[in-house]
Amino acid sequence: MHVGIIGYGAIGQSLVKRLAAAGIEEITVANSRGPESLAPHVEQFDGRVNAGTVREAGAAELVVLAVGWHQVPNALAEVQDWTGRILIDATNNYAPPGETPPDLGGRTSSEIVASHAPGAKVVKAFNHLAAALLGEDPRVAGGNRALFYSGDDEAAKESVGALLKRLGYAGIDLGGLVEGGKMHAPRNGPLIIRNLIEM
Ligand SMILES: NC(=O)c1ccc[n+]([C@@H]2O[C@H](COP(=O)([O-])OP(=O)(O)OC[C@H]3O[C@@H](n4cnc5c(N)ncnc54)[C@H](OP(=O)(O)O)[C@@H]3O)[C@@H](O)[C@H]2O)c1
Repeated sequence: MHVGIIGYGAIGQSLVKRLAAAGIEEITVANSRGPESLAPHVEQFDGRVNAGTVREAGAAELVVLAVGWHQVPNALAEVQDWTGRILIDATNNYAPPGETPPDLGGRTSSEIVASHAPGAKVVKAFNHLAAALLGEDPRVAGGNRALFYSGDDEAAKESVGALLKRLGYAGIDLGGLVEGGKMHAPRNGPLIIRNLIEM
């Protein structure tokens, strides 16, 4: 399995920790400043994690988008053809307390992500937990931490579900990208930041 991560901040780093711990065969991480800027950060993984360009990370079998909301269009535009590709959307249209959240014009954030990656099979996941918690082993207290996901393509969701299982999560499919996505969306989503353990 090859997983690419576009964005190597709080979420990207936590995710890489879990992917490496689970023995995922190939992991490529990228940011906007190029592979050289990431090389010192991936050394700790003894060659298991490659620093690449956004295009290289975007060529993986499963691609995770983990950039700030305002960087989404630029990051996705680096990959020339998203047709048929599985894009895991970990972004949130988050605004810090006191700031006005971005206006989505009545759409969900993942619909906007999808509009910048035409033809991609978008699955929303890895967005509902704080980054620090995402970096922890999901096998806790004799159970497995719940990880919610949503999307419209069943085969893509099966692939994401298989990845979550390998990482040790209890993956919970919430349905389609719009209706399911609303369940784990920031602010009004009832499942956002819920740290639930399936026993
Ligand atoms: N932090 C959390 O607890 C948390 C929880 C759930 C969801 N989220 C969501 O996850 C996303 C990432 O959050 P974060 O906290 O990880 O953000 P972050 O720490 O600011 O990291 C963002 C990463 O994206 C990279 N980046 C920026 N522009 C890029 C571009 N055009 N192409 C490729 N990489 C680019 C940045 O590196 P360079 O600037 O060097 O390129 C950085 O590595 C956000 O949408 C956030 O709302 C965060």
